Amino acid sequence: MRKTNVVILQHEIIHNIVTMKIAVIYGSSTGATEDVAKRIAGAMNVETNNIMDVANISPDKVADFDVLLLGSSTWGVGDLQDDWYNGIEVLKKAQLGGKKIGIFGTGDSGAFSESFCSAIGKIYEELQSSGATFIGKVDPSDYSFTDSEALIDGQFVGLPLDEANESDKTDDRIANWVKQLQAAI
Ligand SMILES: Cc1cc2nc3c(=O)[nH]c(=O)nc-3n(C[C@H](O)[C@H](O)[C@H](O)COP(=O)(O)O)c2cc1C
Repeated sequence: MRKTNVVILQHEIIHNIVTMKIAVIYGSSTGATEDVAKRIAGAMNVETNNIMDVANISPDKVADFDVLLLGSSTWGVGDLQDDWYNGIEVLKKAQLGGKKIGIFGTGDSGAFSESFCSAIGKIYEELQSSGATFIGKVDPSDYSFTDSEALIDGQFVGLPLDEANESDKTDDRIANWVKQLQAAI
């Protein structure tokens, strides 16, 4: 690519990051997903007001945003975090066409290796017909687990984080994901 083209591309990326309205929406039962949601928001320069508990969202509230970053922990065996059952219905009532969606989650790849961060896959499946574009798929080779509903066609359809066993990897995983999101929005 010529240097001028690179400069134009860089300007475009910076312009998009500045003008795109981004919301981070999380469901969290013991605080782990809330904590990583805030770290992701910090890395994406998302205003504190635009970090929302999924229990408090409405179709009107999400209408304002171009990009939605949705986070859920996984409970039971591969289930959504409780507040997401209603949250999904709220998002289905909102107009998501044209928006970009990135999904993240926390799970435990040691104790729940067969359903590691499956909630990410559940949110992805539920919103397939919403008209939104999904961004932020992740290569699974850095993870150790047996199975996950978040694994589709060999890729995680969002960012899995494991605060129980691999919290030392979380900062790097977030930084890489944020870089990827910034190039995709
Ligand atoms: C009863 C129970 C069931 C769980 N089921 C899963 C699971 O199926 N898959 C997984 O990856 N993690 C599972 N976890 C781990 C949680 O998802 C993990 O601790 C998460 O970080 C909690 O996040 P939160 O505090 O934001 O809700 C489970 C934890 C408990 C206590």
